[in-house]
Order: sequence, then C-alpha cells, then structure tokens
Amino acid sequence: MPEPDAAVMNRVRTLIDETGSERTQLLEVLHKVQAEFQHIPRAAAEAIEQAMNVPVADTYGVVTFYDLLTERPVGRSVLRICEDVPCCLHGSEELAREAEQRLGPEGQPSADGAVSWTRCACLGLCDRAPAALYEEKPLAPLHHQDIASIGDRRA
Ligand code: FES
Repeated sequence: MPEPDAAVMNRVRTLIDETGSERTQLLEVLHKVQAEFQHIPRAAAEAIEQAMNVPVADTYGVVTFYDLLTERPVGRSVLRICEDVPCCLHGSEELAREAEQRLGPEGQPSADGAVSWTRCACLGLCDRAPAALYEEKPLAPLHHQDIASIGDRRA
C-alpha cells in the first residue's frame, strides 16, 4: 500500500535534517529515499524542493541519470544484470531470461515487494563477466545458481 504523501514528505524532511539541506547533499538524500521507499515518489521530490531549494524537475533529472535511482517502485532487493557487450558475450542475456522466468517481469517487484531485477549498463566488473549487482554488492561472475537462490529466498 503506498504511503500517503504527507507521511512521505515528513519522512523525507527527517532524512534531509539528518543528512543536510545543501544542494551538494542531494544525491545522498536521494539514495536514502530510494532505500526507504524503493523509488523516488513525487512527494519526496516536493519535500526536497521545499527543504533543499532544488526544483522537482532537477531532482528527476538526477533520478533519470543514475541507474540506482528509480521513479517507479522496485523490490527491496534488486538484481542488476549488466547487458553491455563483454557481459553479453559471456551469457548475460541468457541469465536475464532466467531472471525473468524465476523473478518475474523486468523492473517489477515481486508480489511481496521483496525483489526485482533489471538490465543495466557496465558495472565496471568486465573482467568478471557476466557481472551483476545484488543488494548493491558485486555478484560476478553471475551464475544460474545465484538467480535460483535469489528466487528461493523470495518465495
Ligand atoms: S560490460 Fe559488464 S561489467 Fe562491464
């Protein structure tokens, strides 16, 4: 069930108070909001505008630039599978298809909100292709068994 806007705004104001309201702290605030709400809700962008003097459009400019920030809710744990050429050559597309079978459609959280998966650009782990991140930690090389384990933990 989505949080009411007032509750989101109050919580984001608290996160800003804890982090700092200078514009240079925007990214840190956004990471905290993402961790708590699994996305950046509109109400959060409005709270940021009020408390940090950063326009909503600027906040969403940052959100759309960084792969780790999302406008739509994702799972509490996210599997990111690299789809750039070196990882593709080592089987990442096959692993992505397996993720779709075991974890559901790309970008959509499981029914319990526990997990989602997505393709992403190079993770800087090319020497360990096919590479992935899970809960923001490297999972490289990614194996079929890793995906099966993530699916089992969700069930
Ligand atoms: S191409 Fe996949 S980690 Fe660099």
